[in-house]
Amino acid sequence: MDVSKLHQRLIEAGQGHLLQYWEELPSDQQLELVDELQGMDFAELNVFFQRAMKGFGLSANQEKVDARMEAVPKNVLGSATRDGDWLQEWEREGFSQISQNKVAVLLLAGGQGTRLGVTYPKGMYDVGLPSHKTLFQIQAERILRLQRSADEHHGTKCTIPWYIMTSGRTMESTKEFFRKHKYFGLRSEDVIFFQQGMLPAMSFDGQILLEEKGRVAMAPDGNGGLYRALGAHRIVEDMEQRGIECIHVYCVDNILVKVADPIFIGFCVKKGADCGAKVVEKTNPTEPVGVVCKVDGVYQVVEYSEITLATAQKRSADGRLMFNAGNIANHFFSLSFLREVVRVNEPQLQHHVAQKKIPYVDTQGQLIKPDKPNGIKMEKFVFDIFQFAKKFVVYEVLREEEFSPLKNADSQNGKDNPTTARHALMSLHHCWVLNAGGHFIDENGTRIPAIPLNSTNGVSDAIDANENLKDANDLPIQCEISALVSYSGEGLEKYVNNREFHPPLLIDERGIHELVKNGL
Ligand code: UD1
Repeated sequence: MDVSKLHQRLIEAGQGHLLQYWEELPSDQQLELVDELQGMDFAELNVFFQRAMKGFGLSANQEKVDARMEAVPKNVLGSATRDGDWLQEWEREGFSQISQNKVAVLLLAGGQGTRLGVTYPKGMYDVGLPSHKTLFQIQAERILRLQRSADEHHGTKCTIPWYIMTSGRTMESTKEFFRKHKYFGLRSEDVIFFQQGMLPAMSFDGQILLEEKGRVAMAPDGNGGLYRALGAHRIVEDMEQRGIECIHVYCVDNILVKVADPIFIGFCVKKGADCGAKVVEKTNPTEPVGVVCKVDGVYQVVEYSEITLATAQKRSADGRLMFNAGNIANHFFSLSFLREVVRVNEPQLQHHVAQKKIPYVDTQGQLIKPDKPNGIKMEKFVFDIFQFAKKFVVYEVLREEEFSPLKNADSQNGKDNPTTARHALMSLHHCWVLNAGGHFIDENGTRIPAIPLNSTNGVSDAIDANENLKDANDLPIQCEISALVSYSGEGLEKYVNNREFHPPLLIDERGIHELVKNGL
């Protein structure tokens, strides 16, 4: 195989070392390496690197970002708790959009699940619910349920297409999982997979790193790689052909995610927004979520790692954190906005720099596992495009109802792990049962006290104030309601009103299952 031309190109780009071990490689690995390198645009990579490092130098001076931040103004803010009078109207609008086939959902599932420590895509994770459903199945069933509800409301037959962005690392296993599970009841043509790009990891001086003698260290280009991938795979065109006008973009790891939430969609549409973000109130300054805010007058998410503790701790006159719009990675985009972003704005976005410990093969052929950061990965972020919005809105929801992300393994720490995700879903579903008039009893037939939810939209009203409230440290009642039965607590009276149940309780489309009583 003649690699002289490639070698020349590499030398010109300052990356000649990538073929240093060429002669030693077996022919199949030579082929793979050439394939990988031929596909790379080194001039473009060098530009990415220089721009990213320049931006990184600027943002390394945190004081500068901190001083330029402003909280989200009240006039763009809607709230699931404070705007009770509007919720029905927003929901009606959302269902109307769904029933006219104007709504799509887009899942960002190209991450590597490093913190969770699994080798397969996070969506395939089973957090240990009574049903043992995976995150993918839970989300698929929420889509199915919404389609059916919209059909019931409007007498139509509608579809919510599900676009799933994977990466080189997650594509095949994700597709195989969906095939194996028959797309969880959705039509396969309405589940559209596409792959985001990958970028090489680089040393601090711009050298591409080899993870093996014949393999470049590659990583997905961040969840903002979405916009380039949408263009490369003609996804916007697919959306146009289907008549889509609104897109709900979300991350795979939030077990409570309200996929294609009609209220959020309706809120954004009624406000005439081209771009929107769902947030929960951040109450703990050190919570690792980004905050939606303005920087230099334009909307942006500032990640928790990008601001000083002093800024994170700042409080407003009412005692709440000043930067409290916690980003839960649920975004609304109009199709026309997305089209413009893909065509015009995407190339202007510069990559963020993540300093990492990247194992690499050194010039002596040794595999080095560094104990401190030795290089960077370059990533774009999904919210980098907020700055281009003409009308940006923010919708605040309750954490207990909508946000419990799965980030870490159980062993790592007590936060955002399979146990907290499972508990969050079961606590919410427990409240739905109470709210619909059901009760739980223990093995002696005594009613089990309720868990209070800090809610003002009716959930907590269901809890009898005289009941002996359960100790917050106790395990939640094991209770799971299939999304095929209820999307957000609606329609449960016919199953549970005035009835008593022994936990674990599972309600699905086949009926009510008291798992212990029935020996399941
Ligand atoms: C993300 C948000 C953060 C928010 C938090 C809430 C971003 C950049 N940050 O942070 O503001 O407070 O969620 O939970 O959105 N992904 C890809 N491709 C990639 C990398 C990631 O598709 O190259 C996907 C992942 O599969 C996941 C999502 O993006 O679904 C979020 O990625 P993750 O790295 O977990 O983001 P966080 O740092 O937790």
